[in-house]
Amino acid sequence: MSASDLLDRRLVVVTGKGGVGKSTVSAALAVLAARRGKRVLVAEVDARERVAPMLGGRPSGPVIRPVLPGISTVNVDPRHALEEYALMVVRVRAIYQAVFENRVVRFFLRAVPSLAETLMLGKVLHEARSEAHGRPRWDLVVVDAPATGHAVQLLGTPRALLDTVPGGPLRRDAEWMQALLSAPDRTAVALVSLPEEMPVTETAELDAQLGQGLSLPRGPVFLNAMPGAMFTTSELDGLRGLSPSAPPLGPAARAALLQGAQRERAEAQAVRLRELLGRDVVPLPLLAADRWGRRAVERIADAMDGQV
Ligand SMILES: Nc1ncnc2c1ncn2[C@@H]1O[C@H](COP(=O)(O)OP(=O)(O)OP(=O)(O)O)[C@@H](O)[C@H]1O
Ligand SMILES: [Mg+2]
Repeated sequence: MSASDLLDRRLVVVTGKGGVGKSTVSAALAVLAARRGKRVLVAEVDARERVAPMLGGRPSGPVIRPVLPGISTVNVDPRHALEEYALMVVRVRAIYQAVFENRVVRFFLRAVPSLAETLMLGKVLHEARSEAHGRPRWDLVVVDAPATGHAVQLLGTPRALLDTVPGGPLRRDAEWMQALLSAPDRTAVALVSLPEEMPVTETAELDAQLGQGLSLPRGPVFLNAMPGAMFTTSELDGLRGLSPSAPPLGPAARAALLQGAQRERAEAQAVRLRELLGRDVVPLPLLAADRWGRRAVERIADAMDGQV
């Protein structure tokens, strides 16, 4: 699936191992979609909010807030999602406050298995299908999902409910949630990985869990932080001869050789990942940025754009 196909979905869920660049990829997808004139919501789920600050804005917290032209963000947390859901059901805030004061809220979130996940996922999926003035409220909702195991749990919630809840409103919610999540024309799950041994292994496992396990439509796998090909093989051979030289030539040659070796190792992991997945991956460049902010995200978006 090319990046343009990906951005034509209504819902793109981004997940992967902790720290691999999920928030960066989510922000870059939003930037790319906004450049194409789309109205995008990026929803982080129960996270230390990163996307809005990466894009140069202030954190949105649990309320949707515009951060750049065409891009809004929100950080969905379980307590706020429960309050919203309860308000949708009971309608009146005074009643909500009387019934759901904090202690009770905490009790519910802990006592009912996967209630927190259901509410957070429900909120995000609700945004993905909500309409205003007869058209979709968002062209694209990007979910910056939690890491690996938590994402599987989160995305598996509707199915688990369908297996256990025989009827009633909760089952109806689970039905539309599962229908949206598993529709390949509307939804894709994109994975982020790094060109290293363990992340590659875990990405292949996660891909199988989401695909074979949960029957979710799989989108591209982004291989983030790929070192660039700075030198040709013959240049590297030449540099080997220079590496014993006196400074500054020797140290510079050794640094270049080190970069070449890192690139080679990363390339080997990229090949391995392609083999394990049985499909292509989308490399994203390793950037030497001292501050990880909007400029870096724009450059990642440029790199995605070129790989359509
Ligand atoms: N392509 C890249 N080149 C260089 N550094 C990068 C790249 N992508 C990410 N980073 C660095 O890794 C950090 C973590 O990235 P990011 O927050 O996107 O990861 P994450 O997967 O969302 O993390 P978490 O699991 O904590 O949510 C960034 O702040 C940045 O410093
Ligand atoms: Mg993150």
